[in-house]
Amino acid sequence: MRISTTTGFSLIAVATVVVIVLSQCAKDVYYEGVCFSGDVKPIFTTNCSMPGCHNPVDQANGYDFSTYEGIMEGIEPGNPWDSEIYEAITADGDDQMPPTHKLSAKEINTIKGWIKAGAKNDTTCATGCDTAVFTYSQGVNPIIERNCRGCHNNSLQSGGINLETHQDVVTVQGFGGLFLGVIRHDNGFNPMPYNQPKMPPCEVRVIEKWVNAGMPNN
Ligand code: HEC
Repeated sequence: MRISTTTGFSLIAVATVVVIVLSQCAKDVYYEGVCFSGDVKPIFTTNCSMPGCHNPVDQANGYDFSTYEGIMEGIEPGNPWDSEIYEAITADGDDQMPPTHKLSAKEINTIKGWIKAGAKNDTTCATGCDTAVFTYSQGVNPIIERNCRGCHNNSLQSGGINLETHQDVVTVQGFGGLFLGVIRHDNGFNPMPYNQPKMPPCEVRVIEKWVNAGMPNN
């Protein structure tokens, strides 16, 4: 059969549309294997549970994000676009959460991928934590980034504490072992992360080993 020029052009047009649609889908980064306790929970811990916000004491708008159950109040498993939390973290203006800053694209995609995959409560995640790795750059800094820095950085210094740089962390530990005291939930210390359960034992151990090694900037 001979294809007329017009039909030929239409076919090309259709093919082009199909290719564009497919490439749009490919751009929709889908995080395979996102794990709740290792990947998702820390985003909530450090970005959402400040005083006055979504912690067990304040429960802003009725939300407490310190537990899986609390987070699920704003999640529709399998469907990010029906999930209030996803709407809030992708919103602009007054509806945006957190109100102070937008989550990074990676954090937003992590939460999206987790919701798409059914929002499961995986607790045994490979967090990448290894007690044999306790340098500042590979061991300690990523733990602080995930669990603490959202509330203790150059612009937000909750409780007057800044944990932005290596020197800041060394200074805080210098106040009578304050850093280790708060993460071990030792008696007489303000337990951290704020209003949240203790970090997993591996994370605490990595920081202990780094402190025992003299807190090098390595
Ligand atoms: C959700 C916010 C938030 C997170 C996450 C958080 N903190 Fe805090 N932190 C606070 C607040 C609020 C205070 C002040 C508490 C108070 O005075 O009652 C505080 C106080 C502190 C203090 C001072 C305690 C004292 O007794 O003076 C230290 C040290 C500290 N945090 C370290 C950490 C470390 C280390 C982490 C991570 C493991 C962490 N924080 C995670 C909010 C947070």
